[in-house]
Amino acid sequence: MKVLGIETSCDETGIAIYDSEQGLLAHTLHSQVELHAEYGGVVPELASRDHIRYLLPLMEKAFQQADISKADINGIAYTAGPGLIGALMVGASAARALAMSLDVPAVGVHHMEGHLLAPMLESPAPAFPFIALLVSGGHTLLAEVQGVGQYQILGESVDDAAGEAFDKTAKLLGLGYPGGPVLAKLAEQGEMNQYKFPRPMTDRPGLDFSFSGLKTFTLNTYQQALKGEVGDQQQLKANIARAFEEAVVDTLRIKCQRAVKQTGIKTLVIAGGVGANIRLRASLQAMMESQGGALFYPRIEFCTDNGAMIAYAGCLRLLAGQHEPLVINARARWPMEELSKLSC
Ligand code: KG4
Ligand code: ZN
Repeated sequence: MKVLGIETSCDETGIAIYDSEQGLLAHTLHSQVELHAEYGGVVPELASRDHIRYLLPLMEKAFQQADISKADINGIAYTAGPGLIGALMVGASAARALAMSLDVPAVGVHHMEGHLLAPMLESPAPAFPFIALLVSGGHTLLAEVQGVGQYQILGESVDDAAGEAFDKTAKLLGLGYPGGPVLAKLAEQGEMNQYKFPRPMTDRPGLDFSFSGLKTFTLNTYQQALKGEVGDQQQLKANIARAFEEAVVDTLRIKCQRAVKQTGIKTLVIAGGVGANIRLRASLQAMMESQGGALFYPRIEFCTDNGAMIAYAGCLRLLAGQHEPLVINARARWPMEELSKLSC
C-alpha cells in the first residue's frame, strides 16, 4: 500500500510517500522558521497561509522523488490534530479533496502518535512493548506503548513542555528563534558546573514533569550574574545555557530510568523535537546501557515535524481498515488516550 502523508500542524509543511512493502519512497519539507523569526514565535495566521503556499509544490516534488504518479497512491494520511487549527485545516482540506478525486481512503492521524512511531521508520526498529519519551514544543510525556493505539500515559508535564522551556529560556537570554537548537548550540561552549540548577519534581515519587520553574530560575540567575563583574557576555550566556540544558536532560533521564524500573520494560524510545538534542540522546543511551536495555530514536530530521511519520502512522491505520468518511476533521486539542487500539 502506498500512502501519501501530509503534516501541517504547526510551522513545518511536510509531505511523504510511504510504501508498506518498500518503506519510505520520498519526503519533502518546508520549514517556516525564517517567516516567524522576526516575531520570536509562530504566528498562526502566517503559518496557515504558508502551508497553502508550499503544500502542492512539495507534493509534486515528492511524487517526482518517488517516481510515481498520483494514481499510484492507495491512501492518504494527514495530521488531524493536535495543533494550530488553521494550519491543520489546510492539510485536512487538501487530503480530503485529493482522496475524493483519486477515490482512495483518507485517515486523520494524531500528531503525537506520528512522533511516537517515527523511530519505527529506522532500522532496527524498536519492538513493542516500549516506553516512549515524547518531548516536543507542545507536549512532554512518558507513555507505556503496548502496540499501535495502546498508549498508557505514565506521566506528563504539569506546565511547560520541554521544548517550550527551551524556547522560552532562549528568549529570556536574548537568543534567536527557534530556541531549542540555538540554546543547545550555545551550550556547547558553556563550562560545566558554573551554576547548579534544580532538577524539578525528581525529589518526589511519580513520573510527572514541571519545567516552568527552570525558566524563572534561569532568568534570576542571569539577572543576578549581570549585577556582578561580567567579563564575556557570550560566555556567561553559554554557561547558563549549559546549566539549563544539563538540568532538563538530567530531569528527563531520572524520570525515564524510573519508568523503566517501574514497568520492567527495557526498551526506550525518544521522539519529538527535543529528541534531536545530542546531550539528551547521549545521557539516555548511557542510562539504558546501565540498565541492560536499549534506546531507539529517529534520525534528526524525523525528530522534528515531518510528513514521513504521518505517512507511516497513517499507513498502519489504513492497512487495518481504518479511515473516515468525507468529513474534514481537525482538532486543536486531542488527548492521545482517545485513540483506537489497532490489532496488527
Ligand atoms: O516536535 P516538534 O518539531 O514540534 C512540536 O510538535 O512541538 O518540536 C519542536 C520543539 C521546539 O520547542 C524546539 O525548540 C525543540 O523541539 N528542539 C530542540 C532541539 N531541536 C528542536 N530542543 C532542544 N535541543 C534541540 N537540539
Ligand atoms: Zn511535533
